[in-house]
Amino acid sequence: MRLGVVDLSRVKAALRRRLQLMSEGVHDRKVIVIINGKGGVGKSSLSAAIAAALAKTGLQVLLIEIDEQGNHCEDLGTTGTELADDGQAQAAAILEGKPLTPTGEARPNLYVVPGGSALQDVIEELYCQRRVAATSDDPEDQLAWMGMYASAIDAVRHLYDVIVLDVAPGSEPLQLQALVAGDMALVPTRSDPSSRKGLRTVARRFAVAMRLNPQLRLLGVVLFATASAATRVQQKIRDQLAHDLNGAAGVMEQTIRHVEAAAVACRTHGRVPQELAASPDLDPALRRSMKALAGDYRSLALEVLQAKAELDQADANRKARR
Ligand SMILES: Nc1ncnc2c1ncn2[C@@H]1O[C@H](COP(=O)(O)OP(=O)(O)O)[C@@H](O)[C@H]1O
Ligand SMILES: [Mg+2]
Repeated sequence: MRLGVVDLSRVKAALRRRLQLMSEGVHDRKVIVIINGKGGVGKSSLSAAIAAALAKTGLQVLLIEIDEQGNHCEDLGTTGTELADDGQAQAAAILEGKPLTPTGEARPNLYVVPGGSALQDVIEELYCQRRVAATSDDPEDQLAWMGMYASAIDAVRHLYDVIVLDVAPGSEPLQLQALVAGDMALVPTRSDPSSRKGLRTVARRFAVAMRLNPQLRLLGVVLFATASAATRVQQKIRDQLAHDLNGAAGVMEQTIRHVEAAAVACRTHGRVPQELAASPDLDPALRRSMKALAGDYRSLALEVLQAKAELDQADANRKARR
């Protein structure tokens, strides 16, 4: 297809409708964006594990990987199955206005829209749309291109309880799309300086996305693959992160521990830690660390639901005051 030609009138109508729903207080929070401007900080591992944990509680979950990497196929073991489409369904929804249909159910209640190389066309289209938008004098036309994913996701959001977006670190247009489509962001980070720089990049994009998506909130930062369980070291890292966040949100209580062997085994087997922890085939040491990692993800999923409930309550209070 020719790029730079997606008609945005549908997108603009969808964005007007969601702003209307937000102003009426009836745009439920469902979409969790897992984001950091840096790669290798655990976005894909965390989004697959959290999505699986939430699906296990009976929630209907849609997991969308907005990334050319297509790592979820490894995380969920769908490589080579009909569920792995290299991002085709996602690209067709964004570029051709087709419904955003999952390729299938990777686990009971867990529906997936994979990423993959088909997203290259999407990224190119987004750059074209952004260039065209920059030439417009109309504020709505300047911003509408950022809502292409929001419009596609809003059309299917009534079908799910939770939608998890795993977003590529390197592509600014994709990150803006995800932040406009999302209701809450969760930011995994390691403690090194470049991951923390990635965090500040997200903060800037957050502010841009909020122009179209005023309801967007930061759920919190997740300290990922922490090498040390020492309270003193963790506290120092937490203090640094709190400083980076400048009061915008907290650091989640639950951290994800560093257990490389367990992480490698998960991708090799195509199972999330909670699933593999129950496997009788693992050697005892690996099983112990797998169980511990699974526990981290289970607790984090609960903390995410708790943080979401608090945002829901704040929304309800605001609505009652109006
Ligand atoms: N708990 C963990 N401890 C150590 N390494 C991990 C852990 N979880 C995942 N990893 C490894 O970290 C790397 C990056 O993870 P990934 O989830 O792909 O990050 P991202 O999506 O942010 O690029 C992968 O090689 C993965 O195997
Ligand atoms: Mg990833």
